[in-house]
Amino acid sequence: METPIAVVILAAGLGTRMKSRKAKVLHSAGGRTLLGHVLQTAQAITTPERIFVVVGHQAEEVRASVHALGVGFIHQAEQKGTGHALMVAAGAISHLDGLLVILYGDCPLVQANTLEGLVAAQRTWHGAGTILTAIMDDPTGYGRVLRDERSQVTGVVEQKAGTPEQLAIREANMGLYCYRAAPFWAHIQDLRLDNPAREYYLTDMVEILRRAGHEINSYRIDDPREVLGINNREELAAVDRLLRQRKVRDLMLAGVTIEKPETVTVDPDVTIGMDTIVEPFAQVLGNTTIGENCRVGACSIVRDSELGDDVQVGPFTIIGTSRLERGAHAGPFARLRMANHLEAGAHVGNFVELKKTRLGAGSKAMHLAYLGDSEIGGGVNVGAGTISCNFDGYRKHTTRIGNGAFIGSNSTLVAPLAIGDGAYLAAGSVVTDDVPANALAVGRSRQVNKEDWARKRRELAKQ
Ligand code: UD1
Ligand code: MG
Repeated sequence: METPIAVVILAAGLGTRMKSRKAKVLHSAGGRTLLGHVLQTAQAITTPERIFVVVGHQAEEVRASVHALGVGFIHQAEQKGTGHALMVAAGAISHLDGLLVILYGDCPLVQANTLEGLVAAQRTWHGAGTILTAIMDDPTGYGRVLRDERSQVTGVVEQKAGTPEQLAIREANMGLYCYRAAPFWAHIQDLRLDNPAREYYLTDMVEILRRAGHEINSYRIDDPREVLGINNREELAAVDRLLRQRKVRDLMLAGVTIEKPETVTVDPDVTIGMDTIVEPFAQVLGNTTIGENCRVGACSIVRDSELGDDVQVGPFTIIGTSRLERGAHAGPFARLRMANHLEAGAHVGNFVELKKTRLGAGSKAMHLAYLGDSEIGGGVNVGAGTISCNFDGYRKHTTRIGNGAFIGSNSTLVAPLAIGDGAYLAAGSVVTDDVPANALAVGRSRQVNKEDWARKRRELAKQ
């Protein structure tokens, strides 16, 4: 059996440079919290019960944000440095043997194959640990990797503590480590505060283990952008852009056409079928699934929704928690606010708002309508300007419309209300009573034409 792996993710810091009341790891990029990304990736190398998150700042909120995954937590009440986080963790997890992988919660771009590579590198040699490094054009802010004349890693020096010669080194510590658990825990309490920041630096473990006769290896990656640690909002935006790029690239390679991909926002859990077209500035968010051969119009926002095959979403359409079956159309300029269900081939046009409404197969509401808490059958035509009055000031009520009914333009449907199959509502009706199947309901005063009235009015005005 392979040696088991425990993962510790450091997420206790506030992230002062974020200038935020919210803990850094709770900020989102690419549709997930920073910590959420790291946890997702960590699960590529171990199971949730062997993952431990070190929490401190806003511990409760951080726990709550990832609680569902079933990972463990370690409370670092005072943050005295990255090394201190591990000193605290020792009490809870130093009995776990095998390998120990340490990640920082503010490095959301790390990919699963990088972690796998780091672990594989450590497995193939006898040293006590492997640190992830990269050559950077500008390593300012990162710890620099020190090597001896045989090119063996001897230590990591932090920006604040480095001499000018050391700071000229371009090989940077990326903040990801894989240690053999036994020597690591045997020496964790050797960390000291002897540095300008008066912190326990995790990076000092390299030198400490070397002094104890162990060797430390490095695993170098080509693209340091993958381990960008986020320290401020500018970096947050940069990482967001990279994560979004990755997602739309994956979709494009899987057969989705994305127009002007740099403008499109797609959350990580979204799935989109082949030959679907996503137009510029569209946002597809949350737990959305979209079938094949659909179109998501420019500037539309689709959130937590399910779209079958051949669904068309026109530009500037907003869809939340709704289900659109095969061939349904919505928009342009429609709002399907929440919990709606468009059955196959149903159409919703411009300036139509739906809330908790089912529109049956082939039914249409093409212009300027509000349909809330409505159960609408198949083959129904809802005329322009139709309003369901679902709220009486205290409670919401349901409007039911039977199959094949025709709702004349500008109808006002005062719920609770039931309109039978095949019924007709005259345009402009205020409908307060149920309408039997196949009846015509006229709920307005009759038109009166007053002959010659206008001409007489004009003559009167001349006098
Ligand atoms: C750290 C490394 C540096 C490396 C860089 C890569 C150290 C001393 N330095 O620096 O060599 O180049 O990452 O991004 O490790 N944290 C805790 N508890 C603490 C302190 C920090 O949980 O007491 C967490 C933070 O919330 C954060 C992570 O550890 O998620 C990294 O801390 P940060 O202060 O950003 O370290 P850097 O200065 O970036
Ligand atoms: Mg950092």
